[in-house]
Amino acid sequence: MKPIGLINGKLIDLNENIVPMEDRGHQFGDGVYEVTRVYNGHSFALKLHVDRLYRSLRELTIPAVYTYDELAEFHDLLIKESGIMDGAVYLQITRGFSPRAHGFPENVVPCLTMSIRPVSAAPDKNKLEGAKGLLIPDERWLRCDIKSLNLLGNVMGKQKAKEAGCFEGIQVRDGFVTEGTSSNFFVIKDGVAWTHPRSNLILTGVTRTLILEKIAPELGVLVVEKKFDEAFVKSAEEAFISGTNSEIVPIVSLNGQPVGAGSVGSITRKIQEAYWAMIDQECGRK
Ligand code: PDD
Repeated sequence: MKPIGLINGKLIDLNENIVPMEDRGHQFGDGVYEVTRVYNGHSFALKLHVDRLYRSLRELTIPAVYTYDELAEFHDLLIKESGIMDGAVYLQITRGFSPRAHGFPENVVPCLTMSIRPVSAAPDKNKLEGAKGLLIPDERWLRCDIKSLNLLGNVMGKQKAKEAGCFEGIQVRDGFVTEGTSSNFFVIKDGVAWTHPRSNLILTGVTRTLILEKIAPELGVLVVEKKFDEAFVKSAEEAFISGTNSEIVPIVSLNGQPVGAGSVGSITRKIQEAYWAMIDQECGRK
C-alpha cells in the first residue's frame, strides 16, 4: 500500500519531503492536531473532532481557513484513495511558513497536512483483558486543553510508562490525577464514575465527551467531573482510560497494585461495549 497524505487538500506521496524548514510547526510546535478513527470506511465522531480543532485554532489565534465540509471531504478522499477501511486519520494545522522569529508573523497562510494509516478494528488484549497503568508526575504546560503539537511532556510520560512495562502513564499534578498521556482517565467508586473536570489541565477528549453526554446517561451510570487524588484511585473499584486510539481500555493495575479486584470491572465493560455499539451504529458496522 502506497503511503499517501494531503497537503492543503492536495494528494501527495508521504515519502516526499514536504515540510519546509521554516514551517512554524517544525520550528516551534506552533500548531494543532486531531486524530480521528475510521471504521468500516467512515470517519467516527468527525464533527466533534472538527469542533475541537476550531477551538484549538481559536485559542492560538490561527485562522481557520477550511470549512467543516472541506475537512470532511479531505477525510473521505484519504479513505477512498488509500482503500483503508479501518484506520486513523492524522490532521495537523500549523501557523504556516515564515522566517524564524518567535512573535506571530503577519499574513501567513496556515498549513494543513493529513495522513491515514491502517489500524485494526478488532479489540486487542489490552481492551479485552485490561492493561497496566503507572502514576507519573504531570510535567506538561498549563494549556493542556489545547490539542497542540507540543507533546514532549506526553511523550516523556508515555516512555516512562513503557519502560515500566505499562500501557499508559496516568499523570498527577499537585496531588490530583489529571489524565493519561494520550487519553482521559476515569475511576469508578461506589458505582459512580469520576473524571477530572474540564479545565486547562486536561484535554476535553471526544471519547470522554461521548461517555459523559451519551453513553453514561443511557446506561444510567452517574458521572461526576471532580478532582480526585492517588489515594482515591487506590480505593476505587474500577478504572479505565478513554481515547480515540485506545477507545476504552480498562486499567486493572496501577503501579503494580491491582485496581479493585484486578480484573475488568462490570461498569467499565458496559461503557466499553456501549462505545463499540455506538461505532457500529454510526459507521454501519456489522
Ligand atoms: N490523543 N488526553 C490527551 C492528552 C490526549 O492526547 C488524548 C488523545 C485524549 C483523548 O482524546 P480523544 O478522546 O479526543 O482522542 C486525552 C490522541 C489520540 C493522540 O495524541 O494520538
